[in-house]
Amino acid sequence: MTAPTPLAAVQAEFHGGRRYLAACTLGLPARATLAALRADLDLAEFGRVSAADYSAVAERARGHYARLVRVAPSAVAIGSQTSVMMSLLATALPDGAEVLCAAGEFSSVVLPFVHANRSLRVREVPLGQLAASITSRTAMVAFSLVQSATGDIADAAAIRSAAREAGALTVCDTTQAVGWLPVTASEYDATVCHSYKWLCSPRGVAFLTVGEELARRLSPVHAGWYSGEDPWSSCYGASAQLASDARRFDVSPAWQAFVGAEPALDLFAGADGEKLHAYTAGLADAFRARLDLPPSQSAIVTWNDPDGVDLGRLTAAGIVASGRAGRARVAFHVFNDEADVDDAARALGR
Ligand SMILES: Cc1ncc(COP(=O)(O)O)c(C=O)c1O
Repeated sequence: MTAPTPLAAVQAEFHGGRRYLAACTLGLPARATLAALRADLDLAEFGRVSAADYSAVAERARGHYARLVRVAPSAVAIGSQTSVMMSLLATALPDGAEVLCAAGEFSSVVLPFVHANRSLRVREVPLGQLAASITSRTAMVAFSLVQSATGDIADAAAIRSAAREAGALTVCDTTQAVGWLPVTASEYDATVCHSYKWLCSPRGVAFLTVGEELARRLSPVHAGWYSGEDPWSSCYGASAQLASDARRFDVSPAWQAFVGAEPALDLFAGADGEKLHAYTAGLADAFRARLDLPPSQSAIVTWNDPDGVDLGRLTAAGIVASGRAGRARVAFHVFNDEADVDDAARALGR
C-alpha cells in the first residue's frame, strides 16, 4: 500500500482558499483539475477528444472514489445528481412503504420518495431521534451523514444498528462528508455522494454505492447505453445486456465534468482521511470557541442568523460564507487555515 499524500501536499494543490469558507456550497478546483480541464479544452478545440478517452477517465474516477470510501469499484455506480440516485433507490420499496428521514433534511434526499408516485410514506423526525424512531414498519431510513443546513453529524452507528434490528434499509447521503470525514460506504445498504463540494470536483459527478443484496432489489430505471455490460455494444435496441455489477445503475457520464473530477478524486483518495478530519474539524472547533459554541468535530459551523446580519458582516469583510434555513454557515476545508478562522471571528466582532 502506498503511503498517504501528506496534508501539506494536498494543501499545495489549492491556492484560492483564503477567506473562502464555502466548501459546503461548492469546492475549489485543485491545480490538477484546472490543468486537466484546460488540456481537455485545448484538445476539444481541434476535435482531438473521444468518447473512448472520456470513458477511460470516468472509469478511473470510479476507481478513485471506490478507494476513497473503501469499497470495490464493482459496487460503485456513476451519475450526475444524488436526487436521481435516490429515485433509483426508491424502486427497492414496496408501495406504501415507510421511509424515515430527518426533519430539515436536504430535499434531494427526501423529495424523490415523496414524489415516487407510489404512496410511499415519508416520516420526518429530528435528526437526533432517527435511530429511536425506526420501527418494524420502517422500510428505509434515508439521511445525510452531515446535515447541509446545520452541519450536524448523524449518529450513524446508532442508526445502522437500530435499522439492522428492525430490518430496515440504510441509505446515507455523504455529500457533506466525504472529503473531510472518513466514510466506509459498505457500512450502509447504499450511499450517494455528489463530489462538487468537499471533493472539489465540477458539478455533475455523483456516485452511488450499493451492497449486493439491495442491488438485486433495484430496478435499473435510468438504464442507458452506459449501463451495458459493454457500453459499446449496448448503444442500440432493446436487447442490450446490462452490467452484472453496480454499473448497470450508471447514468452516462457528463464527460467534461469527469475530466475535472478525476484528478481531484485521486487527490482525496490518496490523502490521509484521519488527518484531513482532524485538520478541518480542528479549524471549525477553533472558530466555534471564538463564538462561544461547544466543539462538535464537524467541519461545518452554523448558528442562528435569522435576519442575515452575521452573513452580511462576513460578506462585508470579503469572506465567502453562506446562509441556510435562517442560519449563517461557514465551512473549513483543507485549503483553509487559522488566518481564515481569525478573519471570520474578527468580522463578527469576536
Ligand atoms: C446533503 C446534500 N446532498 C446532495 C446535494 C446536492 O444534490 P443534487 O446532487 O441532487 O444536486 C447537496 C447540496 O447542497 C447536499 O447538501
